[in-house]
Amino acid sequence: MVKSTTLQIFLVVAIVSFFGLLVIHRSLNIGAFSKAGKFIRKSVLADQAQEEEVPDSAGVPDDDSESDEDSELDGDTEFEVGGNFRPGSDDPAEDTWSNVRQRLPKALIIGFSKCGTTALRTFLTLHPNIVSPIEEVRYFNFNYTKGLDWYRRQMPPSTEDQITLEKTPSYIMSPIVLKRIYLFDSRVKLIIIIRDPIVRLQSQYAHSFRNVPEGARKPDFKIWVKGDSSENRITHFVGYTKYIRQVYDQFPKDQILVLAEEDFEQNPLSVMKEVEEFLGLEPAFSKEMFYFNKEKGFYCFNREHEFFPTVLKMVKVNSRTGCLGEDKGRDHPDIDEDFHKELVQFIRPHNEQLFRLIGKRIVWENFE
Ligand SMILES: *[C@@H]1O[C@H](CO)[C@@H](O)[C@H](O)[C@H]1NC(C)=O
Repeated sequence: MVKSTTLQIFLVVAIVSFFGLLVIHRSLNIGAFSKAGKFIRKSVLADQAQEEEVPDSAGVPDDDSESDEDSELDGDTEFEVGGNFRPGSDDPAEDTWSNVRQRLPKALIIGFSKCGTTALRTFLTLHPNIVSPIEEVRYFNFNYTKGLDWYRRQMPPSTEDQITLEKTPSYIMSPIVLKRIYLFDSRVKLIIIIRDPIVRLQSQYAHSFRNVPEGARKPDFKIWVKGDSSENRITHFVGYTKYIRQVYDQFPKDQILVLAEEDFEQNPLSVMKEVEEFLGLEPAFSKEMFYFNKEKGFYCFNREHEFFPTVLKMVKVNSRTGCLGEDKGRDHPDIDEDFHKELVQFIRPHNEQLFRLIGKRIVWENFE
């Protein structure tokens, strides 16, 4: 009798001290608030969020339509993205963060589909001061009637010093949507990413037919590009100028940042720095995080950096090389020489117009 009481007391004391130590350990961890700590903290939350997440395939647009689903940097690199904080986390650690709540976006990635918007979004969520929902919320086009409260509820919780970023590449396609965005917040920051129009066409083609089984017949690329009269894919896919002009018509220039996918792929650090400056954020990306991979001819993540485990969790990179865009052009259709010439000739004047509009030239392989 006496013996078993002693044992019980001993057990209770042991359990209580175990949890006590655990709590102290966790709060110390969070109190550190170093940049790396914050990165890691985000990825832990992202993991938790992913567990809670129920995949929702409903409402994904038909593949053959002009899908805004854009899940690649190049080729068909799919990203398993983290960085998505889910509401209703009862993690006690959140109490130590001042004023954590869901906030409306202060920045939007509004276009273009098949230009690497997912990779860009994912990269940006590696910044400790940026949070972003994984899914395209499509509030300003498809879910507008659900209202602002609904929109806010789609956002991950954030602290006061974090910026909420939402990505829906189809926003840029409609002047009505741009007007709605302006009415929502006339000072919102808009990020647009563009890409070699021919590569974009190839990428859309590959995406549209990615589920066609090996050996089965796919439509000829040339026929697919020309479409029928109601659906001319060339004009749709090379028409950056028209859509960007609509953005310039609605918003002041200093709220609009136009990036090139090719720059992002070849020098992610300088693009990240540009975005940090544009959003008014402290620099969090440094050159130590990247290295130049001579074989690939572009920058990859440095595996030696303390930040790399987080990168591995949040961005689909090759764990051996730290590189994105591993399968560059893997599924892209070949273009016969004559048709390539025809495309280049047709598109080149559009590019010139575009460069004049955005005030910078972009080197595009197909047009060199
Ligand atoms: C927004 O609307 C689209 C189309 O109606 C739907 O498929 C999508 O799931 C909605 N987004 C969210 C986050 O519910």
